Amino acid sequence: MPSKKSLLIISHAPSVNTERMLHAVIKGATNSDIENVEVKSIAPLDVKPDDIKSAQAVIIGTTENLGYMAGLIKDVFDRCYYPCLEHTQGLPFTFYIRAGHDGTGTRRAIESIATGLRWKIVQDPLVCKGDFNEEFIAQCEELGLTMAASLDAGII
Ligand SMILES: Cc1cc2nc3c(=O)[nH]c(=O)nc-3n(C[C@H](O)[C@H](O)[C@H](O)COP(=O)(O)O)c2cc1C
Repeated sequence: MPSKKSLLIISHAPSVNTERMLHAVIKGATNSDIENVEVKSIAPLDVKPDDIKSAQAVIIGTTENLGYMAGLIKDVFDRCYYPCLEHTQGLPFTFYIRAGHDGTGTRRAIESIATGLRWKIVQDPLVCKGDFNEEFIAQCEELGLTMAASLDAGII
């Protein structure tokens, strides 16, 4: 039996709403129909380059703060960019943003870093902006499910 593929979720979840969004992503990714994917959710401060190097796909979740990704997510990139650069090219990747009203600065910044790393954005990023909407929870679950199912099926 081949070993499971690893889907790594790195999410900054500083509020009740963002915690709920993270749990929804995990719920989708751990859907019982998905057989050969192991889901690891690691808090930003605890992520080490080896966690990324050993993943077959990554989902990042962040709030937008002051027009940019959360500092703790930027710190993950600061610490892991060069140790990963030669080892993770082509890594399937997507991300989601919780933004009070915008999200574009964060999206642009993450896409730019992913381009530098040569990670492959395999699924449209999810930007959950404006007043909190219960639809965000279903969208996050869908994001996790699609990413894990695609990895399971070998299409990413
Ligand atoms: C210091 C600070 C700066 C923020 N800056 C932005 C911003 O630039 N753009 C934006 O869309 N939302 C901004 N927000 C809103 C946060 O993205 C939002 O509060 C966070 O995602 C939590 O969402 P929640 O209220 O649904 O829990 C900011 C929030 C804080 C506390």
